[in-house]
Amino acid sequence: MDKQARIFVAGHRGLAGSAILRHLQAVGYGNLITRSRQELDLRDQAAVERFFREERPDYVFLAAAKVGGIVANDTFRAEFVYDNLMIQANIIHHAYLNGVRRLLFLGSTCIYPKLAPQPLREEYLLTGPLEPTNDAYAVAKIAGITQCRSYNRQYGTRFLAAMPTNLYGPGDNFDLQTSHVLPALIRKFHEAKVGGSPTVTLWGSGSPLREFLHVDDLADACHFLMTLPDERYQQLIDDQLVPALINIGTGEEVSIRELALQIRDVVKFDGELVFDTTKPDGTPRKLSDVSRLHGLGWRHRTGLAEGLKETYRWYLDNET
Ligand SMILES: NC(=O)c1ccc[n+]([C@@H]2O[C@H](COP(=O)([O-])OP(=O)(O)OC[C@H]3O[C@@H](n4cnc5c(N)ncnc54)[C@H](OP(=O)(O)O)[C@@H]3O)[C@@H](O)[C@H]2O)c1
Repeated sequence: MDKQARIFVAGHRGLAGSAILRHLQAVGYGNLITRSRQELDLRDQAAVERFFREERPDYVFLAAAKVGGIVANDTFRAEFVYDNLMIQANIIHHAYLNGVRRLLFLGSTCIYPKLAPQPLREEYLLTGPLEPTNDAYAVAKIAGITQCRSYNRQYGTRFLAAMPTNLYGPGDNFDLQTSHVLPALIRKFHEAKVGGSPTVTLWGSGSPLREFLHVDDLADACHFLMTLPDERYQQLIDDQLVPALINIGTGEEVSIRELALQIRDVVKFDGELVFDTTKPDGTPRKLSDVSRLHGLGWRHRTGLAEGLKETYRWYLDNET
């Protein structure tokens, strides 16, 4: 990817997309193409067709999607399946028609079966039932992986699907109705501290194990994959066992209780944690196997403790 290549970052205002844009700007790419949702609704096939014909990007980072936590996924499941299917179908198809050299499609580790062995290896895809609370979203993402693979096989495109684990960091969504667990906890502890509340109530038992990747590490991994030498990249695309699919994560996990305790310390809240076990825990454990990414030579750099401190600082500067 030469520094003057035309690079489209779809979803550049989102958590992942904004980090990817920041990273590409920081490493000196001069031809970055972005469109806000108001400028280009990616569900609109004709508009996407026109955009690709006019802009003709060389590379595409597909970080646009309808994303949300357990509540949002379960409540707005029709929108989650429709929006994601339309966005990815339009972009992947028109990337092919306009000769895009490499495309990176971002999915999520929720594509793997609910009770798959841990850590989650790429070959566990479609080997068992999905977590019901977000299966609409997961099926849409699996369709995106299948579209990348099918276009690679039929048209010789070089489209890669990357499955990041839970992301966090600057630009995250702190809305308690639609956010993921980590930003929700930062907000809850902060508001409890400011409001002088003696306790913070958490959903579930606190025992589920989760993996969290700082979004700047995600951006670094995406750039790393999209700049792999041709031979290494093609090996990923043509892999016999898991073609065009790779996990992105830290390979490290923490319980929700441990995460909450770390955030309590970062926020300096000195009250008590209360676990509301009437609320769902979600899947018991979700750790991605990142041995293939490590095998290519990439590892995350931001530890959870450091990442939480930086994210809380961003929250204070931007959300309060
Ligand atoms: N967040 C995570 O923990 C996580 C974990 C694993 C994988 N991922 C993957 O990473 C990708 C990005 O997720 P994220 O967390 O960055 O989500 P996000 O913060 O919600 O960003 C999504 C972006 O997509 C844009 N978008 C949505 N619908 C659109 C449409 N119809 N037309 C144009 N733009 C549209 C949004 O625009 P607006 O700014 O206008 O809303 C937003 O900028 C997704 O594919 C997701 O599966 C995320």
